[in-house]
Parts: sequence; structure tokens; C-alpha cells
Amino acid sequence: MRRIAILGSTGSVGTSALDVAAHLGLTVSGLAARSSRQALRGQIERFKPARAALADPAECDALRRALNGTKTVLHGGPDGVREIAAAPESDLVLCAISGAAGLGPVLEAARRGKTLALANKEALVMAGPLLLEAARASGADIVPVDSEHSAVFQALRGGARGEVRRIFLTASGGPFARTPREEFASITPEQALKHPTWTMGGKISIDSATMFNKALEIVEAKWLFDLAPSQIEVIIHPQSIVHSMVEFVDGSVIAQMGPPDMRTPIQFAFTYPDRAAGNVPPLDLARVKSLTFESPDLEKFPSLRLGWRAAEAGGTMGAVLNAANEVAVELFMRREIGFPRIFEIVRDVMDRHAVVPRPGLEDVLRADAWARQEARCPMS
Ligand SMILES: NC(=O)c1ccc[n+]([C@@H]2O[C@H](COP(=O)([O-])OP(=O)(O)OC[C@H]3O[C@@H](n4cnc5c(N)ncnc54)[C@H](OP(=O)(O)O)[C@@H]3O)[C@@H](O)[C@H]2O)c1
Repeated sequence: MRRIAILGSTGSVGTSALDVAAHLGLTVSGLAARSSRQALRGQIERFKPARAALADPAECDALRRALNGTKTVLHGGPDGVREIAAAPESDLVLCAISGAAGLGPVLEAARRGKTLALANKEALVMAGPLLLEAARASGADIVPVDSEHSAVFQALRGGARGEVRRIFLTASGGPFARTPREEFASITPEQALKHPTWTMGGKISIDSATMFNKALEIVEAKWLFDLAPSQIEVIIHPQSIVHSMVEFVDGSVIAQMGPPDMRTPIQFAFTYPDRAAGNVPPLDLARVKSLTFESPDLEKFPSLRLGWRAAEAGGTMGAVLNAANEVAVELFMRREIGFPRIFEIVRDVMDRHAVVPRPGLEDVLRADAWARQEARCPMS
């Protein structure tokens, strides 16, 4: 029986993961979040993990007082979150922390040889080679949870690595697929948060609206599957039923399909390499009726070209793409910039970056901090 730790347990992926864990009857040995004290308290009372953590130390102290008498050991601060990733009671760590904050705990779990169920895409985008090297050294398996990468991971079981011609990452197109570019300036955060097919956390919903989510996924796929950027295609598929595809050298294309529900890729990562009966309603293709595909509009969504560019450049460029985008999304959410500025900020910061080709962790963190500063104060 697998014992799992869930980092980011109070978020969209984290709560779906707890639903899957309950369905499969898995032992939840660790939980971690940033500051959602009440939600984490409810999860601790229900799942009784050996340990839990809140990255916010003050919230952690308040939770400790509220939980007086429970057996769960509480850890506070970012180090506390890493304790959950490293703790000996878990065999598998699901990292569903949003953003660059996921990097430290993900590296910790990989170094400890845990099976890593990876929803957090930022860790691979920022530091793909470092993460892969840590996993290789400890023997840790990395099983992607991002639905597109889970699909590719599953489809790759249909052939040998040398037989892959290219992959197709599918994209819903987000809420503005049909919006003329001239109207982008008037897009509000509320409109951008409304995803047509998936229910997700705030940051990734905005990234789906700008298609920076797909840009990050291009870099993620390059590292995860050891592909040249030219082997990674993006195709718009508004129904979000085909989660991605692999084309082999003989022309065969293997696709993975399912309803747009994160519980399916989460469960696959929890049971990998086996499968178990799921609790997601089955796909009803007769009701879906049609599956459509079209090429992305690269002029309307320049984010995609920036994704390929970061994948091509390698080194610290992934960290710069991610950090500049995180800041631009924050500024947009605070209504300090308009929607089209997100593309310009990320492009300008990437233009100014001198790539470090084979970065260590220090170089990655330095590039991340530099890009945040540049994105906030472009003229200083
Ligand atoms: N949602 C999806 O369908 C989906 C699909 C594919 C991939 N992903 C990826 O999965 C990750 C999570 O996405 P999400 O949509 O679930 O995000 P979300 O709903 O915003 O949840 C984020 C979670 O991370 C926690 N967190 C944030 N900063 C933290 C920190 N410094 N230390 C510890 N915990 C921290 C949050 O805790 P608090 O609640 O306390 O803030 C929350 O539990 C992202 O990297 C995203 O790109 C998501």
C-alpha cells in the first residue's frame, strides 16, 4: 500500500488528489500548504497524516494551537514544507504547489528517492536538468500529473523512445480563442479566470488564457521526454478530451483521451505502473459528438513562440520565462497592467537575459530573482 504526501493539498489539484487517495484507500502520510489554515485543519482531522506543514509560520502557530492534542506533527515555514517532501513515512510525493515555490520541495523529494507525482510544472521549467539528475542519482521515478504530459507518458508506452517522431500537446485555446486581438486590451481578470473546460487554480487559469501555460508545457515536455523543441507541436482542441498524442516514425499516432478531470492523471500517477478502477464518470463520446483540431494562432498568442524559444535556449531561460510570467500575472491580477502587457513583459525580460548554459541551483535562483526584478521595474 502506497503512503503519499501531498504538497499543495488545499489547492485545486491537491483537493482532487485527496479525493483520489480516499477512493483508492491510500495512506495520506503528509500534507502541506501555504496559509490555508482552516482547510488544512479539516484535512488533518480527516486523513490524520503523520506530519503537516504550513509555509506561513504565523498561520502554522495558530494551527498548532487549534490542533492541540492531535498526533500530527506540524512543521512551519518553507523548511517545514521541505520536511514533508523528505519525511520517511511517505513513498510517493505529489507536488501540487503552484509556482516557483514548488522547486525546493520537488528537488528534496527527488534527492530522497521518492516516487515524484509532478503536477507543479515550474520545477521542470526552471531546473529540468538538475531535477532529472537528482532523480537519476537517487533512483526516483518522475510520473507527470499535468494532463498533457500524463497523456504523452501513457502514449509513449506504445513504442520505443527512438521510434518517436514528435508529440502533439493539445490546448483548449482558453477563454479567448475566438476573441479578436484588438479586444485583448479590455480583458479583465474575472474574464481571464473563466476557463471553458477545466476547473483550476487562479494562476494556471490566467496562464491558459494567455497560453503561457502551453509555453511552460513545451519546456516541461522537452526535459521530461528528452525531445528537441522541433519535435513538440501544439494543437488547439477545444473539447479537452484528447489530452495529447505521440506520433511514431511509422506515422501511427497514439492519443490518450478522457473527460477533463484531473483525478484521472492523478490516479494514474498514484497507481503507476498499474491501473485501478477510477471514480471519474466514464467518457461518453456519443455525447461529446465531435472532436475538432486546429493550428494555434501564433500572432495572437506570442507566448507559444516564447515557449519554443526558451526550450531552444535551455539553461536559465526557462527560469526567466517562468519568473517574468509569474510577476506579469500578479500585476494583471492587481489591475496594474492590461492583458496584452503580459506578453510584452515576458518577451522583453527574455530579450535582456544572458543565458547561463549549464546552470547550478544558485544560477537558476539568481536568474529567477533577476527576472522578477526586471519584470517589476523594467527601466531600473
Ligand atoms: N489545476 C489544474 O488542473 C492543474 C493541471 C495541471 C497542472 N497544474 C499545476 O499544478 C500546480 C498547482 O495548481 P493548482 O491549480 O492546484 O493551484 P492552486 O489551486 O492555486 O493551489 C496551489 C496550492 O499550493 C499551495 N502553495 C502555494 N504556495 C506555497 C508555498 N510557498 N508552500 C507551500 N504550499 C504552497 C497552496 O496553499 P494555500 O491554499 O495555503 O495558498 C495550494 O494548496 C501548478 O504548478 C499548476 O501549474 C494544475
